[in-house]
Amino acid sequence: MKLRDTHGRLLKDLRISVTPRCNLHCLYCHPQGLEVSDPPGTVTTEDVRHFLKAAALLGLEAVRFTGGEPLVRKELPQMIEAARNTPGITDVAVTTNGTLFRRRHKELLAAGLGRLNISLDAVTPEVFRRITRGGDFKRTWDAVELALELELHPVKLNAVVIRSLNDGEILPLAALSLERPLHVRFIEYMHLSNAPFETYRAQFVPGKETRARIEAAFGPLEPVPTDPTAPARVYRIPGAVGTVGFINPVTEPFCANCSRLRLTADRKLRPCLLTDLELDIAWAFEAEQPVEALVDAILMAAGKKPAFGNTLPTMRERTMLGIGG
Ligand code: GTP
Ligand code: 5AD
Repeated sequence: MKLRDTHGRLLKDLRISVTPRCNLHCLYCHPQGLEVSDPPGTVTTEDVRHFLKAAALLGLEAVRFTGGEPLVRKELPQMIEAARNTPGITDVAVTTNGTLFRRRHKELLAAGLGRLNISLDAVTPEVFRRITRGGDFKRTWDAVELALELELHPVKLNAVVIRSLNDGEILPLAALSLERPLHVRFIEYMHLSNAPFETYRAQFVPGKETRARIEAAFGPLEPVPTDPTAPARVYRIPGAVGTVGFINPVTEPFCANCSRLRLTADRKLRPCLLTDLELDIAWAFEAEQPVEALVDAILMAAGKKPAFGNTLPTMRERTMLGIGG
């Protein structure tokens, strides 16, 4: 079976936030000073198992675990294993800041982790420290090297570009793709941290500008054919081993191709990253036949997926920390 929403879009990707906790406090994601914990009713491994079974029955095929920082969640390996054991789920990935990957990689791989997208917004340790409010570049870089060593291909890096903060890092980040099979993706900053509007506007860098800076330094980029429904447009610097990609949700919204549904750590279905609407589906997890109830809940959420998300600066009920990217 294939699940289409009311706008005819095929839904195939799930993103499950397994915790709102994070051990870094990135400026673009984490509202300042907010300390969070896993509230009662936080998604369990059993919930993940039921949810994925229901989703797979509806034809969804890929799952990405996010946070907060998913590796702070003790049960992440069990959740990955549940995904691996769900017939129909063919892609199991994690978005992480990498800091705990060295410590946890064995159990994650044994559970069946397929690949990682690692958030890396700077290669200059001082800039990295500023963006992450105290993070250690070496620790995240170590995770990148380990992922390459373990051949967890493709290894994708996510960099949110912010003017006067890390726009000086665009070229060294792009250069990471020259000699290693790394896929460096530059992401337009979305107003999802409830930053003051004026600050946000001043910090926004359009993807076109990022690309122009890379081409001015390295020459014209060569397009790399990719899944047209994926958010990133992918290119290669001439002669490079890896690629550079551009995710431009603000200047080139990709809503028409959106294939995603999100489950938040407090068990709400969020049909659109950029719309506050969420469906509390705790009832379905607690039903006598949770898989059947979750099929109904997913169908309900698919029916409420808006045609477009709002990329304009606006105060959000839930910030990216709680949505997970
Ligand atoms: P894979 O193709 O599975 O590797 O995933 P991906 O390319 O979607 O990568 P990832 O999950 O790392 O997403 C990268 C970034 O794209 C996110 O961190 C967000 O900034 C942005 N993004 C992802 N999904 C959406 C979405 O539904 N809407 C918008 N506007 N932006 C999104
Ligand atoms: N704008 C764009 N992307 C964001 N992410 C988090 N906050 C934002 C934002 N405001 C994405 C980054 C990060 C992932 C966890 O979520 O890609 O790597």
